[in-house]
Amino acid sequence: MKLPFMFLGVLTPVLASKYSQAPLFEEPSLSAFTVYQSEVSPSHSIRVKRQNATLCDTPVDQYTGWLDVGQKHLFFWYFKAENAASQDSEEPLALWLTGGPGGSSMLGMLQELGPCLINEHGNGTVYNPFGWNKETALIFVDQPAGVGFSYLDEGELIPSNSFTSATDMHLFLQMFVSQVFPEHKNGPLVITGESYAGHYLPTLGAQIVSQNILYPKRAQVPLKSLAIGNGYVSPLDTAYGYWETLCTTNPGVKEPVFNETLCDIMATNLPRCIAVAKTCYDNPDPAICQAASTVCWNGVINFYDGESYAGGRNRFDITAPCVIDDFCYPETALIEDYLNLKSSFSALGVPKVIKKFECASDAVGRAFQLAGDLEITMKPQLEYLLANQIDVLIYQGNLDLACNTAGAKRWTANMPWKGQSAFTSKELKPWKSTKDGREVVGGEFKEVNIKMVEGDEKTTRFALVTVDRSGHMVPMDQPEISLDMLNRWLAGKPFD
Ligand SMILES: *[C@@H]1O[C@H](CO)[C@@H](O)[C@H](O)[C@H]1NC(C)=O
Ligand SMILES: *[C@@H]1O[C@H](CO)[C@@H](O)[C@H](O)[C@H]1NC(C)=O
Ligand SMILES: *[C@@H]1O[C@H](CO)[C@@H](O)[C@H](O)[C@H]1NC(C)=O
Repeated sequence: MKLPFMFLGVLTPVLASKYSQAPLFEEPSLSAFTVYQSEVSPSHSIRVKRQNATLCDTPVDQYTGWLDVGQKHLFFWYFKAENAASQDSEEPLALWLTGGPGGSSMLGMLQELGPCLINEHGNGTVYNPFGWNKETALIFVDQPAGVGFSYLDEGELIPSNSFTSATDMHLFLQMFVSQVFPEHKNGPLVITGESYAGHYLPTLGAQIVSQNILYPKRAQVPLKSLAIGNGYVSPLDTAYGYWETLCTTNPGVKEPVFNETLCDIMATNLPRCIAVAKTCYDNPDPAICQAASTVCWNGVINFYDGESYAGGRNRFDITAPCVIDDFCYPETALIEDYLNLKSSFSALGVPKVIKKFECASDAVGRAFQLAGDLEITMKPQLEYLLANQIDVLIYQGNLDLACNTAGAKRWTANMPWKGQSAFTSKELKPWKSTKDGREVVGGEFKEVNIKMVEGDEKTTRFALVTVDRSGHMVPMDQPEISLDMLNRWLAGKPFD
């Protein structure tokens, strides 16, 4: 069985203490790393290096580096906002995580929403006029350790689930906003991403909120909202959505992709897939969850995904061709070409233990699969976040199959929380955006604003926003519309 890839792998011990309290007027330089030692943990430090437009074509300041969490080393690339003025301690920050499990966030950055995008030759970058760092600083992190430019010391176990990822990422953000770039100390922070980030982000959000509550005297991570794009939040509902996506015209296609024969087979097999998947939700033992995965794969998913390879079907857009294996999009190969250039390695200061940059780590993907992380639902984490007044945006490219809109509609409706009845009582309505200077329908939306804490007037926002003529990678397929969506979300503006 193919990996059900939802998106689909130095430092000399510097005397860090002398920098430990250093605010950023000691600008990290182009030639060397500046090291920040954690104030709370002796085994944590962040090394950061300034980069310039030669590496990523953007006018804003950019920095790269690694968080060293004991034996694990997480790579990041951080950009300032184009428009928002740097403020004392209240500069907005957005974190982007690509999915997988095992996908590098360099994919999101250089193929979708980064300040620069890969060029057509794979030997440089071009400025992205629709980069997501217009109104907010933006950081991309390769995680968990073992993915992309992130690595593990020899003998360290590869992370195998979203909870371990979340623990490491929380420590990263805690240090990043309090010590390295303290202009983000009070946020607001939005954590966003796509695909398997539907697992990462709710888990990370819940880790942040619970750690903030447990340790009020330690540096707080100023989480304001989540924005999950085509997220793998509830695998059961995603599997259920396969039929609607392939057997109706609802995604926005003229003809259903599958014929009646195939649709009949899938419809017959679906109830058993859902029943076994539900058993895994209730008893998340890896053996049970892998059985669920097998039943759903053989009975439902395989008919399409089994033909996802170069020249075959594209799981990320039912109307698009699949040009290369695994990812379908040729940009992926160009990103690997570019980041593997000697000049890129040298500018980034990639340690010798990393021989080659790869967009996907099979080892991490396999570890997550064996641990049964793939089949569990992250709805409970979202319920916890909403209860703690964290806003949640679910956005969906309608042509995606891998994390389809039909499934997202289903799980956003059946998630039990205080706003559920208000949310399900509403119909989806079109939302307007602009593209190439013309007003267009972006897709559909519905949202609720709910008072979650007794005696507190603050409302919590939960929104489902769909994007027409877009597959899995919304910022790549609809760059202008998706930037408009993001900026409205950040500004707290409604979609109608
Ligand atoms: C990239 O490749 C193209 C085509 O081979 C070439 O014309 C261009 O000069 C190259 N750019 C860089 C920065 O190497
Ligand atoms: C339905 O589609 C399948 C797969 O493409 C094909 O093998 C089969 O012949 C089709 N059946 C009909 C009745 O068109
Ligand atoms: C940008 O950085 C590279 C090293 O990463 C350096 O070789 C180059 O001269 C720098 N360019 C400018 C314009 O500073």
